[in-house]
Amino acid sequence: MNKYPVWLDCDVGVDDAIAIMALHALEETDLLAISTVSGNVPLSSTFSNAHRMNGLMKTNYPVYKGADRPLIVQPQYAYTFHGKNGLGDVELPLPEDAKMLDTPAWDALYDCAKQHPGELRLIAIGPLTNVAIALTKYPELKTLLHTILIMGGAAVGGNVTPAAEFNIYADPDAAQIVFKSGVPIVMCGLDVTMQAMFRPEDWDELAQTGTEAGKFTKACVQKAWAFCKSIGLPGVAMHDACPVMYLAHPELFRAEEAGVYVETRGSITRGKTVTDLYSDKQFETKNAMVVLGVDRDKFIGVLKDCIRKI
Ligand code: BDR
Ligand code: CA
Repeated sequence: MNKYPVWLDCDVGVDDAIAIMALHALEETDLLAISTVSGNVPLSSTFSNAHRMNGLMKTNYPVYKGADRPLIVQPQYAYTFHGKNGLGDVELPLPEDAKMLDTPAWDALYDCAKQHPGELRLIAIGPLTNVAIALTKYPELKTLLHTILIMGGAAVGGNVTPAAEFNIYADPDAAQIVFKSGVPIVMCGLDVTMQAMFRPEDWDELAQTGTEAGKFTKACVQKAWAFCKSIGLPGVAMHDACPVMYLAHPELFRAEEAGVYVETRGSITRGKTVTDLYSDKQFETKNAMVVLGVDRDKFIGVLKDCIRKI
């Protein structure tokens, strides 16, 4: 089977950690490297958490360090959801053989894209700072990438503010560069990711398998679950697993082509992904596939199969 070569840019992160496990276990994807960015927690933690995931999975994916702050706005973290350490305050050991590579994320990404011209799928599940820096520093990169699959934004509503989703709000200037880059974009925003609910019976089932990955999965979502339960949600949304699963199993999703641009300032709308899906006025260019729906039970079924394999 031909596998999709994938670069993952992330801000590990509870749901980033689960997305990493999915990407590792899926037969359709070939994870080449991981880059980390400031987002849910500071860069030092997102970087070490990616190494900790290598330890948990007994893998050796190269991990690169990217931006330690957004392009222009101040950093904003999401400790309430992800815990102080980003992994729901579950302590995973840092592997002794962790390779502390010092090539910056954007340089390593460009080198990798040159080795896979027209083939590399870039999955970005944190603020888009690293991706924007790479596209700006290397104008050729946009012709080398096959697609950028993003967890971010929403056609309707927001989570961190009424208008904006966290990853886009955290670095709207970077997001605008990415959406305007000309690279084909798949946007998995809150419209779809809030349907991708992981429920208590799902993580209980995984923990009962007794594997380290199963037990970690249940433990790391507990802090997020306490928050989600308090606002009346039935589970924890697997935001970051959505673009991963969309790449491997697009048949589980419903998507529509649209024009999408980012409100970079605005007094109450900073970070809003403005789409023309529902408006009479249409943007000149349809620059994204906006993913709007998912078969939740099949999605969670595949996700659980992935974690069971680790
Ligand atoms: C996104 O923000 C982060 O908290 C999650 O990891 C996900 O990437 C959801 O809005
Ligand atoms: Ca994330």
